[in-house]
Amino acid sequence: MILSPTIETALNKQVAMEAAASQKYLAMACWADVAGLQGCARFLYSHSDEERMHMLKLVHYISDAGGKAITPMVEQPVLDYENIIQLFEKAYSNELKVSAAIDELVEICVQNKDKQTANFLQWYLDEQHEEEVLYRNLLDRIRLIGLQDRGLYFIDKEVEDLYSQKQATEKKKSKGAE
Ligand code: FEO
Repeated sequence: MILSPTIETALNKQVAMEAAASQKYLAMACWADVAGLQGCARFLYSHSDEERMHMLKLVHYISDAGGKAITPMVEQPVLDYENIIQLFEKAYSNELKVSAAIDELVEICVQNKDKQTANFLQWYLDEQHEEEVLYRNLLDRIRLIGLQDRGLYFIDKEVEDLYSQKQATEKKKSKGAE
């Protein structure tokens, strides 16, 4: 299958979005690191890697389909946050924007009768659903804990636990794939 120029351009736009997401999470991880929130930093560094993997998956798909993947220029991400709750609010709103972009991309594929790419993008739809749920639940929990007293300590622990759970799930998934 050869990609149409319309689909190739649309996929490259998504490559840029995933690259920007990876940089945003990296900047968030660095902020959390400096703030002494090691659990949050670990989670965010790992999420930055995941976003790079999302980008690479698209890059390989474009190349395999005879297109040219464009390595994007990435904007300087936000470096500072008021507090950890604001940081996760930004992360959640970013995930909502990515979900909307993937929906639009699928729509373009449907309009251009590119079933194969629409099928490839199903993985991204599922992934975005998982990420939205994860961030929404996380935000609910950390808002409940709040920043008062030892709140930061408990928030960091909550995120560290989530990170460990995600690692365990990924391990299981990759073992299942072997
Ligand atoms: Fe790959 Fe969470 O956007």
